Amino acid sequence: MKVLITGIDGYSGWPLALHLLARGHEVVGIDNFVTRRRVREVGSWSATPIPSFARRQAAVREVLGKEITFYRGDLGRYEVVEKVLATERPDAIVHLAEQRSAPYSMIDVRHAVATQIENVTSTLHLLYAMRAYAPDAHLVKMGTMGEYGTPKVPIPEGFFEVEYRGGKDTLPFPRQAGSWYHWSKVFDSGDVMFASRIWNLRATDVMQGVIYGIRTPEMTDRRLLTRFDFDETWGTVVNRFIAQAILGVPLTVYGRGGQTRGFIALEDSVQSLRIAIEHPARPGEYRVFNQFDAAYSVNHLAQTASRIATELGYSATIAHPPNPRVEAEEHGYEPVHEHLYELGYRRTRTLEEVIREIFTTLRRYRGRLVAKQHVVQPAIDWRQGDNRGSLGTRAPTPPGPPPSSGAA
Ligand SMILES: NC(=O)c1ccc[n+]([C@@H]2O[C@H](COP(=O)([O-])OP(=O)(O)OC[C@H]3O[C@@H](n4cnc5c(N)ncnc54)[C@H](O)[C@@H]3O)[C@@H](O)[C@H]2O)c1
Repeated sequence: MKVLITGIDGYSGWPLALHLLARGHEVVGIDNFVTRRRVREVGSWSATPIPSFARRQAAVREVLGKEITFYRGDLGRYEVVEKVLATERPDAIVHLAEQRSAPYSMIDVRHAVATQIENVTSTLHLLYAMRAYAPDAHLVKMGTMGEYGTPKVPIPEGFFEVEYRGGKDTLPFPRQAGSWYHWSKVFDSGDVMFASRIWNLRATDVMQGVIYGIRTPEMTDRRLLTRFDFDETWGTVVNRFIAQAILGVPLTVYGRGGQTRGFIALEDSVQSLRIAIEHPARPGEYRVFNQFDAAYSVNHLAQTASRIATELGYSATIAHPPNPRVEAEEHGYEPVHEHLYELGYRRTRTLEEVIREIFTTLRRYRGRLVAKQHVVQPAIDWRQGDNRGSLGTRAPTPPGPPPSSGAA
């Protein structure tokens, strides 16, 4: 199958490309490298050094004996999207190329608007180009579990049956997103659902949980590693906690830490995207998959990371700074996730084993963490309209001592 991955240079796009190539699929990618630039904008970098895309292609050629066709381009320009779809006519499109950081979208008005305009525009451009050049292709659109918020009832996979004042219907489950970024994904979902209906397109909207992990089995060479962000803006919570433990600074649990979300290991996220591609939606079908393995509270994640850190010889402590986000800190959380399992998905990685693997891989890059360690402290406050000042004044904090034994 020929698969177009938008955002192929990103944290999950790159491992997905390797995974698909290793299983005989043909991979075409597009990226404009905006994540690389924006991580620099907040004063950070990937803990794993990421080669240029040309070097990544060369490493794939050398190590896996495979080719990736690559377009450098912005999905915000319709002529670019048109050209790629008209030339490649892929069987499936995995759309990952969006601004994906909730804190980044909350910096100020400029960042909020850029996030929403870019994300909604890129999706609309893809939908129009699919209709024109690849009407039978299957779109796997990356959404987020964060679209649903934390309602006090179980969260179905996209739709639920409602009875109201004598009427009965199956309707989209209400969305209650928690950042401008998450709202951009809600708007995307509406657009993808509508386009599938009017143009008979095939679409799977993936409500993805938070990803954790640093490598997948295809990364047999350092040049094949994916990016690993650990700063407060771009690092996801598990990844950030491990970086903090290696740095010897407290693991920052925002507020009381009862916030509970769905999580999935990088390797299993990639596996489930492949399963979605290999079992396409029908023409005109818009289906929703809740893609996560287990729900964990932030306290549970911090305690697990800190326990493993201690076993490995690091001295990890947990701090509870005031929560910069506006969110419930204690709540129930009961999302359903059955569709992927029905298609054969099985979890392959546990939280603990992936945390250990991150420690093992990341400790080689401690110098890169130390060089940027001041960016792990929270500086973007949801209640402020303009956070540019606090980002600029974030004080460098000295890293803690290296581990006492074993792990160095
Ligand atoms: N990482 C997570 O935990 C997580 C969780 C839920 C959902 N998601 C979603 O998964 C997708 C991929 O996430 P990721 O962690 O790999 O993010 P990422 O930022 O590492 O990767 C996205 C890639 O898309 C590229 N890109 C962005 N806008 C573009 C544009 N307009 N044109 C061309 N390229 C563009 C970026 O340069 C980057 O390489 C995103 O849509 C994100 O919202 C991620």
